[in-house]
Amino acid sequence: MIDPGAYAIAFGWDPAGEIHRLVGLCASPPRRVLELGCGTGRLLGAFAARGVAGVGIELSRAMVDYARGQLPDGVEVHLGDMSRCPLPGSFDLVYASANTLRHLVEDDDLRRLLRRVADWIRPDGTFVVDLELGRAHFDSEIGRANTWTNSRDGVEVRATWRVVAIEGGRAITELLLETRRGGTWDPVSTRFPLRCDDAATFLDHAEACGLTLRGGGILREPELLDRPGPQLEGRCVLAMEASRANQQGSPRP
Ligand SMILES: C[S@@+](CC[C@H](N)C(=O)[O-])C[C@H]1O[C@@H](n2cnc3c(N)ncnc32)[C@H](O)[C@@H]1O
Repeated sequence: MIDPGAYAIAFGWDPAGEIHRLVGLCASPPRRVLELGCGTGRLLGAFAARGVAGVGIELSRAMVDYARGQLPDGVEVHLGDMSRCPLPGSFDLVYASANTLRHLVEDDDLRRLLRRVADWIRPDGTFVVDLELGRAHFDSEIGRANTWTNSRDGVEVRATWRVVAIEGGRAITELLLETRRGGTWDPVSTRFPLRCDDAATFLDHAEACGLTLRGGGILREPELLDRPGPQLEGRCVLAMEASRANQQGSPRP
C-alpha cells in the first residue's frame, strides 16, 4: 500500500496556484468548500490557512488518518466513497482535483456523485473538476512514464506515473513511489483503473445530473487556456453550476 507520507512528499508542491485557480473560477470568494477525494488534505490545509472552512471525503483509511493528523481543528475529513457516503450540507465550492473523478469507473457511480454535487452546491456555488479527457489523448499516453522527484526533511521520493494499457475503455494506471531515507531506494507501487471519457460524454453525464458548464479550459500549467466545450482534449479544468432546473428542485434522470 502507498504510504500517505511518501505520497504527500511526491505530490507536495506549492498549492497556491491551484487554490488561486479554484477561487478564480467561483462567482464570489468561497467561504465553505468540499473536496472530493481529499487524499492527504494538502488543498484543504491551504484553504484553512486562508480562513476558508473545508470538508473532505476520502476513501482510503490511511489517507484519512494522515489528513486528520495534519489539518487544523475545524477541517472535517470523512471516510467513505464520495458517491455514497452521507454528508448533509451545502457549499460555495465543491472540487475534485487531479483526475480524482476518474476513479469512478462505473457510469452509475459517476452519475450518483454528480447528482449529489448538484445538490451540495449552493445556488450561486461552483463545482470545479480537474481531469484528463479525450480518446486521442489517452491513446497517446499509453506507456509514457512521467517521473519526478521531490524531497522533504531529508526524505526523497521519486514518483513514476504511467498508463500501462487501455482495457475496456479504462486506463490501467501505475503509480510507483520510491522512497530514500539514507542510502537505498524503497519501492512501492499500485495499479488502478481510471475512466477515459471524451469531453462531450463527460459533459452529457454532468448535464443529465443537473450541472451546467460555465467555464474552464485546457490546463497548461500554470495557465488555464480558457475555451471550455465538448472538443476539449488533455488535462482540463471545468467549472460548472447547478442548472436552473436543479435549483428549482425538478426531478432528474
Ligand atoms: C489523485 S488523488 C488526489 C488527492 C487530493 N485531492 C490532492 O489533490 O492531493 C485521488 C484521491 O481520491 C481518493 N478516492 C478514489 N476513489 C474515491 C472514492 N470513490 N471516494 C472518495 N475518495 C476516493 C483516492 O484514495 C485518492 O486519495
